Amino acid sequence: MSVLARSLVENGLQIAARRAPTRRPRTELRIPGEHSVPIYEQELWTSRQRQASSIHEIAYRACFKPQLPAYFIERLTRAGDVVYDPFSGRGTTAIEAALRGRNVIVNDVNPLTVILTYPRLELPNVTEIDARLRALRFTPRPASDMDLSMFFHPDTQYELLGLREYLYRRLRGGDEDAADRWIRMVATNRLTGHSPGFFSVYTLPPNQAVSPEDQLRINNRLKQEPEYRDIRALILKKTLQLQGRLSAAERFLLRQAAVNARLLSRDARATSDIPSGTVQLTVTSPPFLDVVQYARDNWLRCWFNGFDADKIGNDLTMSGAVEEWEAEMANVFRELYRVTRTGGWVAFEVGEVRRGTVKLEEIVAPLGVRAGFQCTAILINAQRFTKTANIWGVKNNNLGTNSNRIVLYRKA
Ligand SMILES: C[S@@+](CC[C@H](N)C(=O)[O-])C[C@H]1O[C@@H](n2cnc3c(N)ncnc32)[C@H](O)[C@@H]1O
Repeated sequence: MSVLARSLVENGLQIAARRAPTRRPRTELRIPGEHSVPIYEQELWTSRQRQASSIHEIAYRACFKPQLPAYFIERLTRAGDVVYDPFSGRGTTAIEAALRGRNVIVNDVNPLTVILTYPRLELPNVTEIDARLRALRFTPRPASDMDLSMFFHPDTQYELLGLREYLYRRLRGGDEDAADRWIRMVATNRLTGHSPGFFSVYTLPPNQAVSPEDQLRINNRLKQEPEYRDIRALILKKTLQLQGRLSAAERFLLRQAAVNARLLSRDARATSDIPSGTVQLTVTSPPFLDVVQYARDNWLRCWFNGFDADKIGNDLTMSGAVEEWEAEMANVFRELYRVTRTGGWVAFEVGEVRRGTVKLEEIVAPLGVRAGFQCTAILINAQRFTKTANIWGVKNNNLGTNSNRIVLYRKA
């Protein structure tokens, strides 16, 4: 039995040893003053093995596949345990944990995370959402604070501004309910994209909003003008896609998780709202140096929700220099050590950056150890060229974040 399989079994959890990596370590990583950490490289999960839930299908830059958190949640936690993600993004870890009856804590300095995650736990019924969409009445001239005509047909822009104003009024008046939050989440996701399923004319994928100037250039190059899109119809269509394949049991588990879920918008280094020694498992993926510009890519989503994208950009960890990134992650690990309970785990996923020349897993492994964790293994998910990668034109093992490299720690 491999070191990892043995340590997982010794943890007393119901783990079939055959499901843990069984190949001998390909190499080891030496951490100064510590034991060597085994590195396992193999296909840990395949999309064929497990079809992810449709409820995940909203776009976010550098999100990981649901199979990744599922792999660790199933092996390292039991029902009722707390599962945490300090860099939660669209909330992939939270949704996978909720679907397995775990308690969830979500954190991301970007407040869009709460907008995107909570409604998919709270899960209002499709009939309620449909009724609310039908009941929407917009003021004759909703206020526009910027020119968005390069993205939207005038009638679409009128509906979008009306919806934005309606949601703002409901929030400010303390009347916002689950149906409003769901509509806000889906609309945020449908603003711009590369198919008629989005409110905009053809543009980059929804998690990468281009600037108005760049959109004008795209329109000129493609000789295109925005066509009318019925935003109510598109929100309902996406709602059916997200919820359509959920079973009654999954609906129940998501809603149950919403009751106790904690959703924070803090810097991952300072999360005093989370009591010490409470988290059984953290599954997370930090910003990889300055590879992804989350604030810039989300400027239109921020505008729709009344957030200041520049301020969020200043709050994000966005280090171009490896040493700076390392110092910030060292503080993240100190905080993770505080919130993790004895016997708990951290699965810290980093991508391959700068064409493989910087191995972030080798940088973070000693950081966790210095914070007090035992580094148990490094797992590299050897994925074949995936559908997602093909769509976005990202070459596997080349441009960055496609091969998952997970450093696994335990608090002894
Ligand atoms: C790689 S993404 C995580 C994506 C996530 N795993 C998912 O599936 O959607 C990294 C996230 O870290 C967030 N972030 C950056 N700096 C942060 C900080 N100092 N504290 C908390 N979150 C931060 C970004 O907003 C971004 O959502």
